[in-house]
Amino acid sequence: MADDLIKQIQDAPDLQALDALRVAALGKSGSITALLKSLGAMDADTRTKEAPKIHAQREAVSNAIAARKDALEAAVLEQRLATERVDLSLPSDAIPVGSVHPVSQVMDELAEIFADLGFAVAEGPEIEDQWHNFTALNMPEAHPARAMQDTFYVQPRNEGEEPRVLRTHTSPVQIRSMQALGAPLRIIAPGRVYRSDSDATHTPMFHQIEGLVIDRDIHMGHLKWTLETFLKAFFERDDVAIRMRPSYFPFTEPSAEIDIGWSMEKGRRVVGGQEGWMEVLGSGMVHPRVIAAAGLDPDEWQGFAFGTGVDRLAMLKYGMDDLRAFFDGDLRWLKHYGFSF
Ligand code: PHE
Repeated sequence: MADDLIKQIQDAPDLQALDALRVAALGKSGSITALLKSLGAMDADTRTKEAPKIHAQREAVSNAIAARKDALEAAVLEQRLATERVDLSLPSDAIPVGSVHPVSQVMDELAEIFADLGFAVAEGPEIEDQWHNFTALNMPEAHPARAMQDTFYVQPRNEGEEPRVLRTHTSPVQIRSMQALGAPLRIIAPGRVYRSDSDATHTPMFHQIEGLVIDRDIHMGHLKWTLETFLKAFFERDDVAIRMRPSYFPFTEPSAEIDIGWSMEKGRRVVGGQEGWMEVLGSGMVHPRVIAAAGLDPDEWQGFAFGTGVDRLAMLKYGMDDLRAFFDGDLRWLKHYGFSF
């Protein structure tokens, strides 16, 4: 009978069938359990004779169950490994990756170019007090130049406080840098600026980069060389022509607007050549009053400053035509014009 049972155990097709056999043999009312129980009713002599046989049967049956269980489990595992194997040759799902926004890309390019010329990067707050944004830059209260830049005013927190402004240009960083670092000084200040203006070429928020050099014996030749060198490096062309046009800014004297030459290439207007001119920068020698307002002696220190729109530079270099697209967050546009990491 035990041989028969062992044969059934060895042939058990799966773990459930095996467990049914185990219960039938070794369970509470199993056949082997019944044999073991029968020992109690035997007289001592018979029991001495039968007990080893019955125990041997129980042993054989439970060994057979354990062996079959191992074999079946191994088979199940093998089956799982075969069907669940990761197929490394399958193409993976495309993971969407972002790109560097053209404004960030151009800011990085500018910082790199000016780093080579010895300029450090400076920063200032976007919510600025009127003294830094206007007064110290030689734009006293009621000065008509304050009206030139359509200013966003920020409601003061406490009554009687002067309202602050969203900075209308990066020029207040000139003042903050001179105050914090003294002279000599060579900085650029890239960042966001705000004016209440909106059309295809104006957005209420845009980006500027400011440049400031303060030292002894600085003159306009230094300004011209610096801007020419920077524009050639930025547009990656040696034939970038520049033209300085007299202009007016309250914080520079004399002031000059910088135009660069453009020409038509493959039906597109590109930087380089001299078929026409377009304005790209404001600049000039830092007004002595500005130097004094920042706490430096204008008889000892002179300097030049310049400012330009980063977004415009990006449009010119990479051929984009609507400034507003910069800030729409349209993924197709970002994918087209963005830079990969
Ligand atoms: N702040 C000026 C503007 O926003 C640009 C400028 C900067 C001009 C520095 C001269 C010197 O238009």
